[in-house]
Amino acid sequence: MGSFKIISIFVLVVLLAPSFHPRCGASASAEEAAALLKWKASFLSQNNSYLTSWNLQSGDAKNSSILPCTWAGISCIDGSVNRLNLSDWSIKGSLYDFPFSSLPNLEDLDLSFNQIFGRIPKQIGNMSKLVSLDFGANELSGKIPPEICNLRNMNHLGFPSNQLSGPIPPVIGNLSSLQFLYLYQNNLIGAIPKSLGNLTKLIELDLTGNQFSGPLPELLCQSGILQNITVGENMLTGPIPKSLQNCSSLVRARFNGNHFQGNLSEMFGIYPVLDFIDLSNNKFYGKLSSNWGKCKMLKALIVAKNNIMGGIPPEIGNLTQLHKLDLSLNYLSGEIPRGVGKLASMIKLDLHGNQLTGGIPQELGMLMEFLDLSTNSLNGTLPELLGDLKHLFHMNLSNNVLSQKIPLQIGKLTQLSELDLSQNLFTGEIPSEFQNLQSLGTLDLSQNNLSGLIPKVLAELPGLLHINLSFNNLDGPIPSGRAFVNLTLEEVKGNKGLCGTITGLRACESSQLIKKHVKDKRKEFVLITALPLLGSFILLGAFFGVLKLHDRRKQNSREEDTEVNKGGLFAICAYDGKALYKEIVSSTEEFSETFCIGKGGCGSVYKAQLPAGEVVAVKRLHNAPNVAKDKSFLNEIRALTEIKHRNIVKLFGFCSNAQHSILVYEYLERGSLAKILSIEEEAKELDWQERLNIIKGVAHALSYMHHDCSPPIIHRDISSNNILLDPECEAHVSDFGTAKFLRRDSSNWSSLAGTYGYVAPEFAYTMKVNEKCDVYSFGVLTMEVIKGKHPGDLIANLMSSKLEEIELKVLLDKRLLFPNRQIEESLLSILKLARECLHVDPQCRPTMLIISRYLASY
Ligand SMILES: *[C@@H]1O[C@H](CO)[C@@H](O)[C@H](O)[C@H]1NC(C)=O
Ligand SMILES: *[C@@H]1O[C@H](CO)[C@@H](O)[C@H](O)[C@H]1NC(C)=O
Ligand SMILES: *[C@@H]1O[C@H](CO)[C@@H](O)[C@H](O)[C@H]1NC(C)=O
Ligand SMILES: *[C@@H]1O[C@H](CO)[C@@H](O)[C@H](O)[C@H]1NC(C)=O
Ligand SMILES: *[C@@H]1O[C@H](CO)[C@@H](O)[C@H](O)[C@H]1NC(C)=O
Ligand SMILES: *[C@@H]1O[C@H](CO)[C@@H](O)[C@H](O)[C@H]1NC(C)=O
Ligand SMILES: *[C@@H]1O[C@H](CO)[C@@H](O)[C@H](O)[C@H]1NC(C)=O
Ligand SMILES: *[C@@H]1O[C@H](CO)[C@@H](O)[C@H](O)[C@H]1NC(C)=O
Ligand SMILES: *[C@@H]1O[C@H](CO)[C@@H](O)[C@H](O)[C@H]1NC(C)=O
Ligand SMILES: *[C@@H]1O[C@H](CO)[C@@H](O)[C@H](O)[C@H]1NC(C)=O
Ligand SMILES: *[C@@H]1O[C@H](CO)[C@@H](O)[C@H](O)[C@H]1NC(C)=O
Repeated sequence: MGSFKIISIFVLVVLLAPSFHPRCGASASAEEAAALLKWKASFLSQNNSYLTSWNLQSGDAKNSSILPCTWAGISCIDGSVNRLNLSDWSIKGSLYDFPFSSLPNLEDLDLSFNQIFGRIPKQIGNMSKLVSLDFGANELSGKIPPEICNLRNMNHLGFPSNQLSGPIPPVIGNLSSLQFLYLYQNNLIGAIPKSLGNLTKLIELDLTGNQFSGPLPELLCQSGILQNITVGENMLTGPIPKSLQNCSSLVRARFNGNHFQGNLSEMFGIYPVLDFIDLSNNKFYGKLSSNWGKCKMLKALIVAKNNIMGGIPPEIGNLTQLHKLDLSLNYLSGEIPRGVGKLASMIKLDLHGNQLTGGIPQELGMLMEFLDLSTNSLNGTLPELLGDLKHLFHMNLSNNVLSQKIPLQIGKLTQLSELDLSQNLFTGEIPSEFQNLQSLGTLDLSQNNLSGLIPKVLAELPGLLHINLSFNNLDGPIPSGRAFVNLTLEEVKGNKGLCGTITGLRACESSQLIKKHVKDKRKEFVLITALPLLGSFILLGAFFGVLKLHDRRKQNSREEDTEVNKGGLFAICAYDGKALYKEIVSSTEEFSETFCIGKGGCGSVYKAQLPAGEVVAVKRLHNAPNVAKDKSFLNEIRALTEIKHRNIVKLFGFCSNAQHSILVYEYLERGSLAKILSIEEEAKELDWQERLNIIKGVAHALSYMHHDCSPPIIHRDISSNNILLDPECEAHVSDFGTAKFLRRDSSNWSSLAGTYGYVAPEFAYTMKVNEKCDVYSFGVLTMEVIKGKHPGDLIANLMSSKLEEIELKVLLDKRLLFPNRQIEESLLSILKLARECLHVDPQCRPTMLIISRYLASY
């Protein structure tokens, strides 16, 4: 290896010798090429495909001024290397042979996202013209060399996500041009001493996730231009320095997870452009200042886990943009100000673990998704208006002194997946409206004074996994049903009147069982006959639920089998599905063109208005999958019918017989995104905010299917044809999980995998489909929503250039007005995200979980 290296350098020098003639002006670049090849030769892996252009043949060997300027990752000015960007090139090696002294004109060096290990050599100080340096996401260790202070032109300095140790060299204060400093996620220690205060041009500082101690430098924002400061998860102490207290330029600030202390009310001023601040998990005390109400742009205020006392200032109700307010785990007292509760933009309100009193505000912001007021001293009743929070998915009001009945309106919270009302004083029966909470996964009603029977509908909730009804006054038999199969004594104990087969629980007497039976029968009757009157999809869902229940019961009890089973003609609908099937056939006049609302590769979609009034979308498949005996297929369909998510089109069921195979779906009037974007008038009405929401909705749906379902469900065919919109422009993803079997008979591989133009590139050679294929298609879709049409070749442009270099307007839908600044920034961030999704290497694409969490803040 060693001798090989020597020989290759020797050959190189001989080859380049003729062009060393000064007249050609080539000697500089020849030297640069040689030095870079020497470094390349030190890499542990020599078969890196990115580096194939790094050789002597790639230019005209006689005109070496174009070497190494034609090599990948390199840009030159006047024949000398000016930029070197090898970001994400899978380089495994060290910097010991890096030509620090041989690249005199280098301004831009980006080696991020590789596997570069070892120390940073002190020769780094020789690159005197360097303006931007990024070593992020490598495996560098050791100290930051003080020679760094020679880089006087440095504007952007990034050593994040390495294993660097030791303190920040104090001489960093000499980098007087520095605007961006990123040292997060290392093992750096010591005080941040004071010289950072000399960086008078600093705009963004990120030191998260190190072991820094001591106070922040006093003069951090002395010139009043610092925008983003992120020092979370360190061991910093002391108060917030004075210069930050009136730092009116501040946009984002994270101080969370340190040992900061001091009186909060005296420490923060008014920040006119502050967008986000996290002070959680520190030792701040004192009151919340009414000044927070003057930070007009604030979207998130997080002060959880401190020692804050006093009331919540009503002025916070002036923050019309506030999305997230988290004041949990403090010593706050007094009432929740009405204005704070009803903030229209609020999505997450967490006040748990305080000493709040009074009632729950009657009116709460309608966009609320997360509400935790648990462990306070709130009294009064549950407001009926709570039923209007149609986006709510998490509600915890436990451990308060709330009383009286649980209002029926709770049944309107159809997105709710976690509900905890335990440890209160609720009385009355458990409302049967719980049957509408089809997304409910966790229900805790323990330690109240609830009485009466347990409604049978609880046992049938499709997603319910955790239930606790202990310590109430419930009586009668424990209903049987899917959700109660694994019920333990712990979850029902402390109720004098309950009986059942659970070990430790008293067995039911026959009179109790009869009572139960009669009650069950009556419920089902009501459900089925009420359907024509109410005509709601929720009930239709429940209707299918009941059919499925019958189906299952039939399977369980052989005596009844003869009555129904006619050989699996009607796969999922089974039983009464036959009646429904007939209704569908007759209401579409046997799938007449008149009722056809769309055609696709695998079937036509019809709008069917059932006699009962419901409208459903029916997809009739061209090629019926041969499913009569395919148990895994049936299981999959069954699982899909049980999925309920606000961004996923509800699949009610599947029927198949000799003539037709149909899928029955929720009907969404506005139709597909593809259609809407193709019609100028409709596309114009879909403004930027709505488009962002569509992207968010699709991300939520995909994240749910990839990460909350076990096993994960891959869509395989995300495209604008499969995104349907409801009247509020909320996105609903259709055909989830069905693309796989609908297209499995196809001979054309691209249709097997999805829609042309959305298929991830690796499919061409791996033929394997995994979650990351959906992530790729999501990336294409995101660009399409923003561009207003399929991005086509723009994808390649986006991948090959810096986002800043592409004119944003090329990527935007020309039919809309150019966005305002705030939206423009969101769009840029989302386009960056889309670019990550389109990465050729599936491993490098982010997961939908990360994407949906990231998007949640827009
Ligand atoms: C490339 O190098 C890696 C080791 O770094 C090795 O595992 C792989 O097989 C090599 N590939 C080729 C095509 O030589
Ligand atoms: C070498 O190539 C560069 C760029 O292509 C060109 O500008 C220059 O004139 C060439 N020099 C010679 C000596 O051919
Ligand atoms: C280097 O290239 C990568 C991707 O090719 C890009 O994300 C990054 O911004 C570039 N770095 C610089 C400093 O231009
Ligand atoms: C490069 O840096 C080292 C260490 O800082 C120094 O000793 C050396 O003289 C420098 N070389 C050049 C060519 O500037
Ligand atoms: C920081 O600035 C002060 C005064 O401007 C100066 O005295 C001090 O030497 C500087 N520190 C560093 C490390 O540059
Ligand atoms: C820092 O800069 C000052 C003047 O700008 C200079 O006198 C001093 O020597 C520099 N310190 C180092 C360590 O380079
Ligand atoms: C902060 O306030 C002090 C005095 O009140 C003032 O001197 C300083 O310029 C202010 N800084 C900013 C960034 O507004
Ligand atoms: C500050 O942070 C926000 C949000 O992450 C970002 O959009 C903005 O570009 C940052 N500002 C600077 C100067 O980097
Ligand atoms: C802010 O809120 C307070 C109390 O809720 C109110 O009196 C005041 O008028 C509001 N100020 C502005 C500017 O809206
Ligand atoms: C709730 O508690 C407050 C005292 O904190 C009391 O004044 C009020 O009457 C109570 N309300 C109800 C409905 O019990
Ligand atoms: C009951 O528990 C078993 C074993 O933990 C589990 O496999 C099954 O899915 C559970 N059933 C329900 C309905 O939760």
